[in-house]
Amino acid sequence: MLTEVTATRYITPLREGGSLPGLVEADDLGTYVMKFTGAGQGRKTLVAEVVCGELARRLGLRVPGLVTIGLDPVIGLGEPDTQVQELLKSSGGLNLGMDFLSRAIGFDSLVHEVSPEEAGKVVWFDALVNNVDRSWRNPNMLFRDGDLWLIDHGATMIWHHNWPGTQASAAKPYDATDHALAPFGPDIPAAAAELGPRVTEDLLAEVTAAIPEEWLKDEPGFDSADALRQAYARPLLARAATIHERIRLQGGTSGTSGTSGTSNVSGIGIRKGTK
Ligand SMILES: Nc1ncnc2c1ncn2[C@@H]1O[C@H](COP(=O)(O)OP(=O)(O)OP(=O)(O)O)[C@@H](O)[C@H]1O
Ligand SMILES: [Mg+2]
Repeated sequence: MLTEVTATRYITPLREGGSLPGLVEADDLGTYVMKFTGAGQGRKTLVAEVVCGELARRLGLRVPGLVTIGLDPVIGLGEPDTQVQELLKSSGGLNLGMDFLSRAIGFDSLVHEVSPEEAGKVVWFDALVNNVDRSWRNPNMLFRDGDLWLIDHGATMIWHHNWPGTQASAAKPYDATDHALAPFGPDIPAAAAELGPRVTEDLLAEVTAAIPEEWLKDEPGFDSADALRQAYARPLLARAATIHERIRLQGGTSGTSGTSGTSNVSGIGIRKGTK
């Protein structure tokens, strides 16, 4: 279960985010980046954040701590921006919060260095959860004090938008040619050997138990929240064993081609090469 706090003050919208996440203060005096149930794809985006965030943390990757935030839309009444007002009005109840990383700056491949070992783990993890939102155009990674942090896992596990097609969808390869860390020579085989065996049924049960019950209610085709939790776990368990064989980097797959940092794919190599 995630810790539950209550929002006490809406500070400001984070305008870089397409879903208009907001910075809020809560009754535990913490400052959180809040993602709203009333935004875009709604609660499924938040479920994806919980599953991926809790899984990544257990695999030793750096992700901000997660909480659920109770929201009384009344705290947004003084907000001058009507778009923000509407978002707050439609998001009463439980929302998602992540620890705000103050002093963090956005990842920039021209400035920040990532080891092949760490890049391999991130690319392997993104392949596992089918993250389509970590390209060099929109890296969704932050740097603080020399450490890399992963954020924004809302656009993952595409199969949860069409459960009957899960098996076919989860069997597909992962195209990492545009991945923000592709130029850093990700060592996928090492990441797979280290992280793959750690993704067990028990670990996934622990991860999916963290999804708030009310975000799992009334999903067509499922008669209980636990059945849906298992549906989240199954494709991840299956992918953990073999996804490294289906990661495409630089026009080949990680199993068959080199993964050096001199990619010439879509200008990525040029970005890295001009450092
Ligand atoms: N935990 C955090 N600490 C500090 N800053 C953050 C944190 N989470 C998000 N941000 C900042 O807010 C921006 C938007 O966050 P995020 O990418 O999660 O939102 P989104 O609406 O899902 O975005 P996208 O448009 O990429 O789908 C980030 O690019 C980053 O600058
Ligand atoms: Mg983002």
